[in-house]
Amino acid sequence: MSAKRSTIALCTTPPLYDMSTIPVLRDQKILLGVTGSIAAYKAADLASKLTQAGAQVDVILTEAATKFITPLTFQSVTGRKAYADLWGDDAHVIHVGLGESADLLVIAPATADVIAKMAHGLANDLLTVTALAARCPIMIAPAMDVGMFEHPATQANLKVLVERGVTVIGPAEGRMASGLMGKGRLVEPVELLGHIRLMVSRGGPFTGRKFVVTAGGTQEAIDPVRFISNHSSGKQGFAMAQAALDRGADVTLIAGPNSLPPIVGVKLVNVRSAAEMADAVLKACVDADALVMAAAVADFRPEAEAEQKIKRGALDVYDLRLTKTVDILMAVAEQRERTGKPTLTVGFAAETQNLIDNAREKLFKKKLSLIVANDVSAADSGFLVDTNQVTIVDAGGGAAELPLMSKADVAEAVCERIERLLASKGW
Ligand code: CTP
Repeated sequence: MSAKRSTIALCTTPPLYDMSTIPVLRDQKILLGVTGSIAAYKAADLASKLTQAGAQVDVILTEAATKFITPLTFQSVTGRKAYADLWGDDAHVIHVGLGESADLLVIAPATADVIAKMAHGLANDLLTVTALAARCPIMIAPAMDVGMFEHPATQANLKVLVERGVTVIGPAEGRMASGLMGKGRLVEPVELLGHIRLMVSRGGPFTGRKFVVTAGGTQEAIDPVRFISNHSSGKQGFAMAQAALDRGADVTLIAGPNSLPPIVGVKLVNVRSAAEMADAVLKACVDADALVMAAAVADFRPEAEAEQKIKRGALDVYDLRLTKTVDILMAVAEQRERTGKPTLTVGFAAETQNLIDNAREKLFKKKLSLIVANDVSAADSGFLVDTNQVTIVDAGGGAAELPLMSKADVAEAVCERIERLLASKGW
C-alpha cells in the first residue's frame, strides 16, 4: 500500500492592497470624538473610511462611549492609539497636543450631554477638555432620541455652538433605537465622510472659482414610455465634480438620469434631455469660471414626441424621424463671445477611431481650452466601467497620454491641468 503524500501549494501571487486614498484627505489630522450613544458603532466605520482615505485619525472616547464600543476597535481600524477617558499622568499633555495638532475635530456621535457641556464651556473629561483647547474647526454630528433633540435646552445649546462657528451635521430622520420615528439618527458614515471632505477642501487652489460640470447621458423621448439614450453612467462627470470640489471650487453639477449618490457640497441639477441640459448649462455658465462637459449628450432626438404611447398594432416597421439636438458647447462658445464667461471650457471626446485627430478637430470647432479624449471601444475604458484611459489634448497642440487609471484619478489629472492653465493665463 503506497502512502499518499499531501502537497501544499504555495501561493506566489502577492497579496493585494488597496492603495487608493483620497488626495484632499491624505495626511489630514482628524481628531474623532466618540460619545455614549448606541450609534457609537458607526463611528468605527467612519474612522475606518477616514483611515482608508489616507487621513491620520486619533480617537478619544468618553467613558460612556466605552460602554458601547472599545478603544481596541478604533485602534484596530486606525492603527493608532485610541484614548479612553481615563485621567492618566499624561492627560494634560494629550489634550493640548491632540487639540493643537488636529486639522479638524469631529464629534460623532455627539450626545445631548456633550453638546450641553460644549455650549457651557464645561471641561471635565478628556474630550471636552480637548474641544475647549482645540484651535481647529469643529464638526459635530448629533445622535439622540427625538424628544431630547427637540428639547429647548438642546436646541438652545446647538444654537450657541453654531454661533461660535461649530458645523452641525444632522441628525437624520428615521427609526431610532427606541423604536420611535423622528429626527435623531446619526448621519450615515459615508455622508459624514463627504462633509469632512468638504470642510477640509475649503481654501484649496480653486477657492472662489465657480465650476459647472455635466455628467451622464441624456434621454430623448419617443413617447411617454420610451426614449433614446446611451450607455453613459455619469461616473466620469461625477468624479470631475468631486475633484473640482476637493480643490475648493463652488461646483454646479448638471446631470442626466443616473444612479449615482449625490456629492455632499455639490449643487446638483437633474435634467433629462439635451435641450434641458443646454438650458441649465447656459444659465449656470453666466458667471462661471470653468465648464467641464463630461456628459454624453445625445446628438439626435425624435423630431416629435408622441403624446400617447405608440401602439404596436399591425405595424411591422416603424419609421422614427430624428433631428439634431443643440450642440451645447457651441452654444456656450457663442455665449462666451458675448459675455466672456465661462473663462475656460473643457470637452470630452468619446471616439472609436482616429482618437487624437478627431479630438483635436472638436477642440478647435467648439473653441475649447482642453479636450479629454478616450477610446470608448477599448476594454476597461469609457462607459460603465470605473477606469478610463485618456489623452488630454490642449489648444497649443500638446497631447498628454495618461495610463489606464480610475475615473477619480483621471479627474485629478484634468483638474491639475486646469489649475496650471488658469495660473499660466493669469485667469
Ligand atoms: N457635446 C455637446 N452637445 C452635444 C453633443 C456633445 O456639448 N449635442 C459635447 C460633449 O459633452 C463633449 C463634446 O461635445 O464634451 C464632444 O462630444 P462627442 O459626443 O465626442 O462629439 P460630438 O460633438 O457629438 O461629435 P460626434 O458625435 O460626431 O463624434
